[in-house]
Amino acid sequence: MKFPICPRFLLLVSALAVSPPQSLRQAADSAGVLVGTAVRPSLLSESAYAATLAREFNMVEPEDALKWWVIRQNRDSFDFQPADEIVRFAQAHKMKVRGHCLVWDHDHPDWLAHGHFTPPQLSQLLHEHIDRVMKHYAGQVFAWDVVNEAMDEHGKLRDSIWYNQPGIGFAGQGTTYLEQVFRWAHDADPRALLFFNEAEGETLNRKSDAIYEMLKDFKHRGVPIHGVGLQLHLPGPELDSAALAANIARLTALGLQVHITELDVSLPVSPPASPPIGSAGHPVHDDDLLHQAQVYRAVVHACLQNPGCTAIQTWGFTDKYSWIGSHSHGTRGRALLFDQAYQPKPAYDAVLQELSTGWRPAK
Ligand code: G3I
Repeated sequence: MKFPICPRFLLLVSALAVSPPQSLRQAADSAGVLVGTAVRPSLLSESAYAATLAREFNMVEPEDALKWWVIRQNRDSFDFQPADEIVRFAQAHKMKVRGHCLVWDHDHPDWLAHGHFTPPQLSQLLHEHIDRVMKHYAGQVFAWDVVNEAMDEHGKLRDSIWYNQPGIGFAGQGTTYLEQVFRWAHDADPRALLFFNEAEGETLNRKSDAIYEMLKDFKHRGVPIHGVGLQLHLPGPELDSAALAANIARLTALGLQVHITELDVSLPVSPPASPPIGSAGHPVHDDDLLHQAQVYRAVVHACLQNPGCTAIQTWGFTDKYSWIGSHSHGTRGRALLFDQAYQPKPAYDAVLQELSTGWRPAK
């Protein structure tokens, strides 16, 4: 009896027979997917940081440089310099740039947080912000997280300065304020892809159901939105990958793109009192790293399975610089693809292997 040879096996053999990809970027380019990471401009002068970034990724996203508290340190000025540095690096290395984020209720500069603005004033401020920032980066930033983390864990709209405290004039009207900011964003840069970016709504749960229903309504009514960002900050090496794939499938069935936007898989590390994380005195648990690698592989596989999933992005790429350490008071870390010395971890190998299969179903 002849057994049909699985196309995926043939793809893998032919790909590896030619010359195996030497970087995530090479493998991603072959697979037709973007592989990106969050970037800090202050680190671009560190040679190992810049070299690894340019070699391994075909997309970058400012981790903080496009946020209100960086760009708008006062009401009357826009400081684009930090993000411009990242855009210049990307252009020099032929990388795409994702923008993050225009509407979020986090880290407001004091003049905004304590300005006691009225809804009409906030509407004017937000419209001006979206317009000025997107026009400055038109043609340089191909996709924007227009809105970030607007829903709580139950799928309800978070109270925020932009929604109802006091909001931009649509308080109590549900997602109308979100519709308004997407329309402003599309007017500002009609060529940019506009994304709704969220955390903890990546698999199948009340939150992802609420996101799906909102996006279904927006698409039905012609609201200019092109995709959804699934952050995937995973607090450990556990993931319901089947549920992730099912969520990606239902979102792309709406005609939306899916970007994995902030992937990291954190591990328990010793508290600050013990040797610095990753130092020689800090034991690295191989099992943890192997479980972490399996989760990274599962995320990449779930994305590659669906042609509508067009980008996979980690939130930083070296354990030397990650938001997790400071935000977990040193109890969690080692979440990324490279260790503190920029050496690839098992998770890197797993992502490279999965990308190298190049297996993508026809669109
Ligand atoms: O650099 C300033 C310093 O000059 C100042 O004295 C100090 C006190 O305000 O703040 C420092 O900036 C900090 C910045 O990180 C750089 O370290 C901010 O306080 C701190 O809030 C900021 O945290 C960022 C956080 O978003 C809030 O903006 C993290 O870097 C960033 O990784 C994190 O990223 C978010 C995504 O945007 C959205 N999804 C969740 C993700 C993780 O929280």
